[in-house]
Amino acid sequence: MTISLSANPTPATTLVPLLQTESLAEKLAALASLLNIPIETLQADFKGDVKETLPLYLANGQKIYLLGMGKAPGQNDWFRGVRRFFYDHKANLPQALTVDLRGFDNDVIQGVVLGIRGGGYDLKLYQTDKPEGPALYGPDGQVTLLLSGEGAATDVLARAEAIAQTQHEMIDLMNAPGNYKTPQTLAEWAVKSGEEHGYRVRVLDKAQIEAEGLHALLSVNRGSDHEPRFIIMEYSPEGVENPRTVGLVGKGITFDTGGISIKPSANMHLMKSDMGGAAAVLGTVEVAAKLKLPVRVVGIVPSTENMVDGSATRPGDVVGSYLGKTIEVIDTDAEGRIILADGLGYMVRNFQPDVLIDLATLTGSVIATLGYHAAGLFTNNDELAAQLTRAADQTGERVWRLPLWDVYSEDIKSDVADLKNFSGKPLAGAITAGKFLEVFTENHPAWVHLDIAGTAFGDTEFGSQKNATGFGIRLLMQWLSEL
Ligand code: BES
Ligand code: MN
Ligand code: ZN
Repeated sequence: MTISLSANPTPATTLVPLLQTESLAEKLAALASLLNIPIETLQADFKGDVKETLPLYLANGQKIYLLGMGKAPGQNDWFRGVRRFFYDHKANLPQALTVDLRGFDNDVIQGVVLGIRGGGYDLKLYQTDKPEGPALYGPDGQVTLLLSGEGAATDVLARAEAIAQTQHEMIDLMNAPGNYKTPQTLAEWAVKSGEEHGYRVRVLDKAQIEAEGLHALLSVNRGSDHEPRFIIMEYSPEGVENPRTVGLVGKGITFDTGGISIKPSANMHLMKSDMGGAAAVLGTVEVAAKLKLPVRVVGIVPSTENMVDGSATRPGDVVGSYLGKTIEVIDTDAEGRIILADGLGYMVRNFQPDVLIDLATLTGSVIATLGYHAAGLFTNNDELAAQLTRAADQTGERVWRLPLWDVYSEDIKSDVADLKNFSGKPLAGAITAGKFLEVFTENHPAWVHLDIAGTAFGDTEFGSQKNATGFGIRLLMQWLSEL
């Protein structure tokens, strides 16, 4: 499918998104006169509510779909609303389609492009008896975005396409089951992406991880038959003198059984998604390289499974870390913070980033706190909190700040080691996890932790089980572009 821009209406089937504003009556009146019907008829059948669609058939054979967008949709509402429309209707849509976006701004165009691309997504990757895909999403599919003037939007389209393509791949990785993705799968993805888009990728294998002293990562890997990988990606802009360095660290647990502190089986299958932080980091570095951002972006992904085995780390074991600090493993299911300890430690020691951000599907506690609608944001840097909150509000990939007060560190003091990985109490779990990570940032003044456990995997139109949302790439790209 290709998406192009035009300032001229076409006779093709047209999707007309409509807001519930004062101009709705005016627009419906114009349509009613085109259809030669009384406006009341149309008004009775179409209110402009979110998720509302109405197909109209013109005497000349043209078809028009009205799509309700509600009162004041943000970019995410555009993305989700348009994605749902395309997903629900793609089987019936013709090969060429026009979307009437006259009068809307660039944020809307970006949301719509992502929605159109997203609507083509298919979860049924592993079904053997698949019907042929819809023509609109085939090689000859054509979507024309009808704009008031097309010039300025060319960049927006290119940018949205770059994000959509990468996000699609990340969503595939997230949805892939544990037997189809190992740390090596993530590493291979990064290597290939680096070759394609011209940035450096270094992958440490198990021997190199041992040689570097990444003991925390190794401790989580002990129960797994698959070797760990430590992925380092580095995009440096050309022709920019002394660019700022942004360091991104993502949790890459390809499957989390909980280890010896094993999880209950009911929802354990969802733990194939425990690499949502890694996906956000891999994806953001790739998009930054594609769009040639004037910032240096370093991505680090420590990756392993968390499995149960005779040689797995036991509760009570004391393990080392890259920074030399010792960790008492109270609960082997609190493994994300353990591997991030090495990711963060390696990042601060080797790359001295100006800003350091980690993303992780870290705690059930953040879901208990914020549900599935916002990621927990933890930082001691007010300016960064404000910047990221603004980017989150703009993209609709929401964040909400939670505290990092020092009193919470009491809960991770260990009797026998430098710190322990779990308080043992069902209280403030997302915050104590953040306090744990803070120890491995070496007091970095511009560190942010995003707990995306509730936002990376969620309910979507794609299936009955929770599945990948692609959370983080749009948020980080929005923030990076404004640096
Ligand atoms: N990967 C989980 C967190 C998670 C839970 C992500 C639900 C997505 C959905 C993490 O490794 C974990 O198991 N956390 C434990 C920590 C606890 C043992 C201190 C949790 O939150 O229960
Ligand atoms: Mn766990
Ligand atoms: Zn986990």
